Order: sequence, then C-alpha cells, then structure tokens
Amino acid sequence: MNVAYPSSEFESDLAAIEGFADLLRTGFENPESIRGTVRITIPEHPDQSFIARYGEELFIERHDMDRETDTQVVIPIATIHRIFNEFEFLDWRDPAIIGTITFTGNLAYANHLAKSCIRLSNWTMARFRKAGRLHAAKGYRNLTEVEYLNQPTQRQILEVMEESRPVVITGLEPTPPCRDWTIDKLSERYSDAVVRVRSATHRQTMAEFVKELKDFEANPYDDMIEGFVKPYTEGANLPEEMWADFGPLFFDREDFIPPQLWLGSVPTHIPTSSLHRDPLTGFLLQVIGRKRLDLYSADQENLIYPMKSYNNYQPCWFKPEAPDFNIYPKAREAKGLSVTLNPGELLVQPAGWFHQVYALDSPNMSVSYFWRY
Ligand SMILES: [Fe+2]
Repeated sequence: MNVAYPSSEFESDLAAIEGFADLLRTGFENPESIRGTVRITIPEHPDQSFIARYGEELFIERHDMDRETDTQVVIPIATIHRIFNEFEFLDWRDPAIIGTITFTGNLAYANHLAKSCIRLSNWTMARFRKAGRLHAAKGYRNLTEVEYLNQPTQRQILEVMEESRPVVITGLEPTPPCRDWTIDKLSERYSDAVVRVRSATHRQTMAEFVKELKDFEANPYDDMIEGFVKPYTEGANLPEEMWADFGPLFFDREDFIPPQLWLGSVPTHIPTSSLHRDPLTGFLLQVIGRKRLDLYSADQENLIYPMKSYNNYQPCWFKPEAPDFNIYPKAREAKGLSVTLNPGELLVQPAGWFHQVYALDSPNMSVSYFWRY
C-alpha cells in the first residue's frame, strides 16, 4: 500500500490520466540537468495527451501540442490503468506492459520517465529505515572486509541476517555440486529446460541458449546494434529441472521467493547491475566465473544519491564506476566494501545493503534467492 495514491480515486479514465501525469511529475528527479521533451499520446483520449518537458522539475503541458518533441510515446488507457494500479510492483520488462506501448525518438527520455512513475510500498520504506538504523548503530560503514563462514549452521546464518552482516559462505561441497560447472555440462544435463522467455511465443531451452551463447562468445557481434540482445537470462526464473542442483541451501524452498538465474554472456568492464539496494535479504550462489560486489551500508544513503522513485529495488543516481563528484559531491565520503565470489561460494547479503555487481569472467552464472521474510 502507498497511502498517497488510494486506487479508488483513480478509477475513471480521466482521473487515471491525471494521476499518471501526477506520478510522473512528483516522482521526477533531474540531478544531471537533462533537458528534453516527451509527447505522451493516449489514443482513446487524444485531447488528454500531454507533453512532459524536462527542467529542474517536470512540466506537464497541454499547449502547442503540434511542436516537435525528442520522444513520442503512445500508451493505451488500459495500460495507464494497469501502471497506475501496479506502480508498487510494476516491472517495465513485463511484455504485457511494455508490448502495448510504442516509443519513437530518443528512448533515454522515455526510460527516465518510466522511472518517475513507480513508487515504493510502506513496507519497503520501513525495511530500508530499519536497515539504516541498524547499520548506523553497528558502524558498518567502517567495515573493510566481508567475513567468511566455512560450512556454517542454519543458526549462524540466522544470526548473520539478524545483525544484517554480509558474509560469504564456503565449503558447500560435495552437495550440491556447486563447482566445476561449465556451459556444456548445463546444456547436457538440462537440455530441455526453458531458461529464457523473450515473448509469449519465443522460449529458449538450455540447449538452444548455450548454443547461442557459444556462437556469441566465439564471434561477439556489435553491442551498438539497435534491438540487439546479448545471450543473457537476466534474472529469469530458475527452471524447475535445476532446483535439485541449485535449490536453496540451509533453508526450505518455501522460505524464498522463486529463485532467479543469471546465466550468459556479460560485459566485464562495466557493472552487470548498477548501484541499488533490495528490501529482501539476498543469497547469491556463484556457479560459473567470478563476480565482484561493491557494497555500501544502508546508513550511507545520504552520500550515494538513491532515487526517490522506485518500487521493488532502489537504484542510485551516483555511479561509482564513473564518479562525477561535481554533481554528486557527498559521494566522496562514501565508504565501499568489496568482495569477490568464486564458483561454489554463496554470498548472504542482508536487506538494505547498497550493492553494485561486476562479472569478472564471461560466460558467467549465478543463482539468486531472496529470503521471503
Ligand atoms: Fe540486488
């Protein structure tokens, strides 16, 4: 629930369009002073179309509608209702949403606006506040190393979560078989498992995916081609067939939301996930290649410029990989903590820790589980 926007007030088309414009306006931030214009057209209500103009704030304008804009977005009223009712858990990658919207012109502006219209739930806000207080009380910003635990007990892990301390768990062998996985072994063992769904009709099995991945790694095509998608599962649900080998350790399956698979070809020179934090505790099992995580404690939020509009995770404006201290001067004082995960290691990252992820090797595979409670 988000008390500022009770859904009962936005049931009519006109109220939903006004509410949508209001979400964009009040969620808009522009620390880098970008200037641009986006025309939003609602085909069922053409007279309610508007132009969103970027300034220090976002201006919603309904005059001079014939002017040229940098970006044009056509969004049906049904999608506005849906966005409006779901902004607390909306995922823009959902084909049922993104597939109904047409974009032309400069897509960066549309992306920026898409971020502006999501909102967090009161529950998420409370989780982050709690993490901030705890991390401040424990002095976690002064940690210089992530602790390692070899073959811990369930109780030890519960303690770690209670104290909101990140740890790397080692010694997971021999079961499950976390080491020595290769993409060929995956292809052999789970050949028919569906690992990626790009549309309702386009599903890829592990065998097809690994073949595409190998072709790509042998002959990488240009990143800059429009519409190009790297062979990467990007957090797709872990197929049922893989649960036996990669299912959650230490706790029951029911204690986690459905696990995600991060498998594929990844850039190693830029982060695979930019700086953000999650409201749930994450377990990250590294399987193929290495990953490095740079962590910042929750009490440093005022130093790394988290976005005010977000829902299921909170991204930051500040980019540690390309720091601009003129725009984000407080980030000079932020203290990060780095940890490298090797295959067979499991990171427990308590809720609220900001993190940025680098894949150090490609192809790369991890499985992530979020602790439900
Ligand atoms: Fe995350």
